[in-house]
This record gives sequence, structure tokens and C-alpha cells, in this order.
Amino acid sequence: MNLILLGPPGSGKGTQALKLSKQFGFKHISIGDVLRSNVEDRTDLGLSAKKFMQNGDLVPDDVIIGMVESSFKTYLSPESNLTKIIFDGFPRTKSQAISLDSKIQAFGLRLISVVFLDVPDSVVQDRLISRGRDDDSPELVSNRLRVYKDLTEPLLEYYKTKGILTKIDGDRSPDIVFSNLVDMIELKVK
Ligand code: AP5
Ligand code: MG
Repeated sequence: MNLILLGPPGSGKGTQALKLSKQFGFKHISIGDVLRSNVEDRTDLGLSAKKFMQNGDLVPDDVIIGMVESSFKTYLSPESNLTKIIFDGFPRTKSQAISLDSKIQAFGLRLISVVFLDVPDSVVQDRLISRGRDDDSPELVSNRLRVYKDLTEPLLEYYKTKGILTKIDGDRSPDIVFSNLVDMIELKVK
């Protein structure tokens, strides 16, 4: 069983992915975390991603799709025994979604749901500005939100049409959001 967490910057994708991994044993794949550790280690991937991340723009699709493909090879090898993945921050564009669809088919994976964590802009702005990550300045948060609306928000319709979108109110305490997610998962895997 696999899950995608979709939502604006600061909607709680990372927070909830961590809690769900502890509860259900999901492998948490956070593209943002993988990119940040590559930037820190000054790998080729990190060097090419850095300028996009520090502007709050998306890293180009070919880079991200290549990266996710190599994760699939690692985690979905016959020896890995891994059957549960949470994708946090992927897909973020139509091309990424199409690429993921084909991988899901090729590997015979079961996508239980695409969860949309719905949080108003003003709330995510407050959350991120008080967190203070490198890309959490007011200007960058505004750009990240703009990019989200232009390139990622259309995926809500894409997954709704496929009948696998679940909307969850992310503007609640982390524990309430988590308990709604747990209820949703238990319902889907029944
Ligand atoms: P990424 O690291 O994925 O950042 P993001 O999507 O902007 O989201 P955040 O990680 O900031 O927020 P989150 O939703 O995980 O919330 P969190 O739980 O941390 O991506 C960074 C960059 O990498 C992108 O800008 C792009 O350049 C690149 N990138 C990544 N994926 C890519 C892709 N697929 N394609 C191309 N480029 C890509 O919570 C945020 C804060 O709120 C925390 O302080 C938390 O404690 C707090 N909080 C969480 N939940 C609650 C709650 N319920 N109530 C109150 N506070 C809460
Ligand atoms: Mg995150």
C-alpha cells in the first residue's frame, strides 16, 4: 500500500509522513529532504538543484524523475521486500504524475490514496516564517506558493478524476490531522 501526500508548502506533509511511517512502517520518500542532503554534500545533483531551491522554484522534471527512478530501483528490488511507500512532495507536476503512474503500473504497486492536505495560504505563511528553513523567507514562501498553484494544484483535478483523491483539513492540530489520516487508511485497507 502506497500513499502520496500533496499540499502546499508548509501544509504538514513531512510532519504527517513521519508519524505515519512510525505507525504503519511506511518508507518515507521526501524529495525535498533528498535534495537538501545532496546540496549539503555538494553532489552533482545538489549543485544543479541548489539554484532552483534557493529561489523557491521547482527543480526540473528530468532531474527529479531520474532521481525517483533510482529510488524505485533501490527500494523496489526483489530483495527489498518493501511494500509501503509514502511519497512526500512528489509528484509536483503533470509530467511527474504521468511518470509515477507508469512506474506504479510497471511495479504492480497499489496506490491507496492521494491525500490533499488543505491549508490556507495565510496559515502556511505563518507556519513557515516561524520555522525559518533557508527557503522560508516571506519572499520565497510567496514564490513557492505561486509555483504550487501554477504547477502542482492542477494535480488535484488529475487525481480527483482518477477517483483516488482524499481531501483532509490540514488546518488542525498535528494530532487531529494524523487521526483523520489513520481513519482514512484503515477505511481504504479494510
Ligand atoms: P520540500 O522540502 O518538499 O518543501 P515544501 O513542499 O515547500 O514543503 P515543506 O517541507 O516546507 O512543508 P511540509 O508540507 O513538509 O510541512 P512540514 O511538515 O515541514 O521542497 C523544497 C524544495 O525542493 C522545493 O521548493 C523545490 O525546489 C524542491 N523540490 C522538492 N520536491 C520537488 C519535486 N517533486 N519537483 C521539483 N522540485 C522539488 O510543516 C511545516 C511547519 O509547520 C513545521 O514547522 C511544522 O512543525 C509545522 N506544522 C506542521 N503541521 C502543523 C499543524 N497541523 N499545525 C501547526 N503547525 C504545523
Ligand atoms: Mg516537507
